[in-house]
Amino acid sequence: MVGFLGEAYLWVKALHIIAVIAWMAGMLYLPRLYVYHSESEPHSIQSETFKVMERRLLRYITNPAMIVTWAAGLALAFNVDAWSEPWFHAKLTFLVGMQVTHAAYARWRRQFAVDQNRHSPRFYRMMNEVPTVLMIGIVIFAIVRPF
Ligand code: HEM
Repeated sequence: MVGFLGEAYLWVKALHIIAVIAWMAGMLYLPRLYVYHSESEPHSIQSETFKVMERRLLRYITNPAMIVTWAAGLALAFNVDAWSEPWFHAKLTFLVGMQVTHAAYARWRRQFAVDQNRHSPRFYRMMNEVPTVLMIGIVIFAIVRPF
């Protein structure tokens, strides 16, 4: 399948990076909302507003962007035969971390939605750093390819 994208290769790479930007925007903004949401009173107008914002951000931006990032990324992986590349193995390892973090964000959103939040504002501030660190590593592996 090497080169199967032909002329579309760079368009697919552009789509990959556009989807990455939208996915990371959601991954960096959601925990910020959780910080403020965990500081607000359950059932308050503020809390109900955060529920709507979190549901829309996750369902209409973060989830679709993740799916497009994977679809374009896998197409690129087949096109350039990245499977045996150590930089790609490192990238996939950090991507597993990003997926686990994404799943945790979705689970916490569901807890907030039924007023069952279990974590402190400080916890969500710390969790905000996780996708940042993973993203920095992934971009360095994808661009610099240090090994
Ligand atoms: C979700 C699964 C992902 C897969 C399967 C994937 C796969 C790939 C592959 C195979 C390439 C190389 C294309 C080439 O050599 O031309 C690539 C490029 C790139 N990826 Fe991903 N990627 C994924 C997620 C991400 C994420 C989350 C980020 C950033 C946080 C990212 C950032 C980049 C960048 C910046 C490039 C361009 C590198 C260059 O200029 O060659 N990717 N991706």
